Amino acid sequence: MARILGARAFDLGAPLYDWMTAQEIWRDHIRGLARHFPEGAGGDGQPGRRLIDLGTGPAVSAIALAEADPLLRVVGLDYSPGMLARARPRVSASPARERIELVQGDARALPFPDGSFDAATGHSFLYLVPERGKVLSEVRRVLRPGGRLVLLEPRRGGRFAPVEALSRDPRFALSMMLWRLASGVEGRFTAQGLVALVEGAGLRVIGCEETLSGLGWRLAAERVE
Ligand SMILES: C[S@@+](CC[C@H](N)C(=O)[O-])C[C@H]1O[C@@H](n2cnc3c(N)ncnc32)[C@H](O)[C@@H]1O
Repeated sequence: MARILGARAFDLGAPLYDWMTAQEIWRDHIRGLARHFPEGAGGDGQPGRRLIDLGTGPAVSAIALAEADPLLRVVGLDYSPGMLARARPRVSASPARERIELVQGDARALPFPDGSFDAATGHSFLYLVPERGKVLSEVRRVLRPGGRLVLLEPRRGGRFAPVEALSRDPRFALSMMLWRLASGVEGRFTAQGLVALVEGAGLRVIGCEETLSGLGWRLAAERVE
């Protein structure tokens, strides 16, 4: 399958992407991922839970999650220096800045020890990576037993939904249009395909539901042991 979006493309697209996604409907959707995080305290003995946000981009996702939970500690990981350059001032301006760390790295080889996170998120991320199995086995490795992965991914066969029912913000309509275009090239998922991929990496899928008016899937999975 063709792959056009590498780190350089994200560097170039970072200003547009940042502008397009720094809006309430996007943040609200990201916050929806948190209801699948594991209950209770974190596994590392520190207060609150520790999350890795894979492909954090301009950190709208990392910040939305950190601001929604005053105890959550978030690592925002991305391989694009251009995206991280947009992320830094955003994080500095956030009241949650002390709990957000930005790391440049590749999700196919995560620079973290085994079992060091309670949760991992990928909001519009996995479909962009050619070696998806490699990313998922890295996620399994860095999650503690009982830790959760929550993904938002584009849906194959999803109709072009009336997104104005979700938001009248033209930036949102544009972001959905570009998401459909990019995922048309990089690959969309059926529910069965996405579940099989995640289970193939040794994670147990808890649920996979339609989201964004049927354009996407929200999948939650757990590391059992
Ligand atoms: C569509 S953006 C999503 C940004 C953010 N999660 C959001 O929802 O607004 C995808 C991000 O994944 C990053 N990315 C793609 N492949 C990656 C990889 N192998 N390792 C780390 N980051 C990657 C890109 O640089 C880009 O910033």
